[in-house]
Amino acid sequence: MSTVVLIGTQWGDEGKGKVTDFLAEKADVIVRYQGGNNAGHTVVVDDKVYKLHLIPSGILYQDKTCIIGSGVVIDPAVLIRELETLESYGISTVNLKISQRAHVIFPYHKLQDQAEEASKGKNKIGTTCRGIGPAYMDKSARIGIRMIDLIDQDELAVLLERNVEGKNRMLTRVYGSEGVDYKAVLETYRGYADTLKKYVADVPVIVNEAIKQGKNVLFEGAQGTLLDLDYGTYPFVTSSNPTAGAACIGAGIGPTKIDRVLGVAKAYTTRVGEGPFPTELKDEVGAYMRDQGGEFGTTTGRPRRCGWFDGVIGRYAVRINGLDYLAITKLDVLSGLEKVRICTGYKYRGDVLTDFPASLKVLSECAPVYEEMPGWREDITTAGKLEDLPANARKYLERISEVAGVPIALIGVGSKRSQTILTANL
Ligand code: GDP
Ligand code: IMO
Ligand code: MG
Repeated sequence: MSTVVLIGTQWGDEGKGKVTDFLAEKADVIVRYQGGNNAGHTVVVDDKVYKLHLIPSGILYQDKTCIIGSGVVIDPAVLIRELETLESYGISTVNLKISQRAHVIFPYHKLQDQAEEASKGKNKIGTTCRGIGPAYMDKSARIGIRMIDLIDQDELAVLLERNVEGKNRMLTRVYGSEGVDYKAVLETYRGYADTLKKYVADVPVIVNEAIKQGKNVLFEGAQGTLLDLDYGTYPFVTSSNPTAGAACIGAGIGPTKIDRVLGVAKAYTTRVGEGPFPTELKDEVGAYMRDQGGEFGTTTGRPRRCGWFDGVIGRYAVRINGLDYLAITKLDVLSGLEKVRICTGYKYRGDVLTDFPASLKVLSECAPVYEEMPGWREDITTAGKLEDLPANARKYLERISEVAGVPIALIGVGSKRSQTILTANL
């Protein structure tokens, strides 16, 4: 395997957690490199369901080093809850490392996220209101507080006091909402620091050393290409870079160290939150996908919007991330549909666009151009190899691969670790 970056190619929730868990068997080190607890990665092993928000999906194997990189923003309360939940299942977290340079989410970030969403009214982004955007804003504004500062009692007091003063001014005067109590936050966060300090480490040293020793390192992306701050459907995006390049920044390695990039895509498309979605289905087929696929958010429980596979997005994700392969998940969800469709282009004012447009105005006027193919009725959830799939399902996959322009390395036919077909050596 050597070093593999795994990313989402759509609007998140592609099944990255499941694929990471599956590939982690062969990995020595698994690194989350961006995002925060806006992510919700579900892993199903036998009949147990694990929902991970910050800790890499490799944690279920006891002998792997799991790393939260510098590019992640950490809500310590959520992280501690996640650690406790895993421990309660008998899963050890001793091999977890947290970057000294990762930024910390504070209560004022969450209040700011909520206040900004409320002030946008009908133009809201539909964020997870977990304080992710404001934490990244503070990082860029050079007032963020990092894990290394959190575990230094004196430094924390100084930085927090300065920030609380400014944030309270903004929260109360601009948004008319409540501020936070400096002393209470300081005390609570000093408690979090006590719990977390044993995990805090110099992550780039660990990751680069592992690569030098020839270990297999898997980088687990959160969110997806179309939620990328630079390449997504801006402004309906998240505040980090879920695309593959960010693995270097977020883990502290150079681009020369990445061997392969794998893009995870659902066999159809989903989106949570606001923003354009050309292949969205507001009819009974969309409802069928939502019901069969259990398309409700892992983090917020919101129903996910559903639609056909979008090949324009597939090609775009291949280009932006330099994908070597696709992993197609949730193929089983489409079983039972008489016809299946793949979008190959967008009709826009008499032209057909084959490249994903930057302008949201253009995108919102785009009508998908579809290729229709016969569906399959068979239950495919026990298929163990490509040949076990019905011919129509195989043709559908072949066409996705052709339209996107890369081979398929893995196919998901159910949520369990065992319901996975590997079609290439990563
Ligand atoms: P992530 O955020 O990309 O990790 O994806 P989520 O975990 O938020 O959402 C994917 C959902 O689909 C989870 O509930 C998974 O258990 C489930 N899932 C993943 N792969 C498959 C698959 O191949 N088939 C089915 N039926 N479910 C899957
Ligand atoms: P995983 O890793 C799906 C969406 C939110 C919202 C937008 C901005 O599970 O794939 P934010 O709170 O990040 O400022 O919200 O991004 N969003 C996700 N949608 N899966 C995710 O993560 C997401 N993380 C953020 O719904 O539209
Ligand atoms: Mg998710």
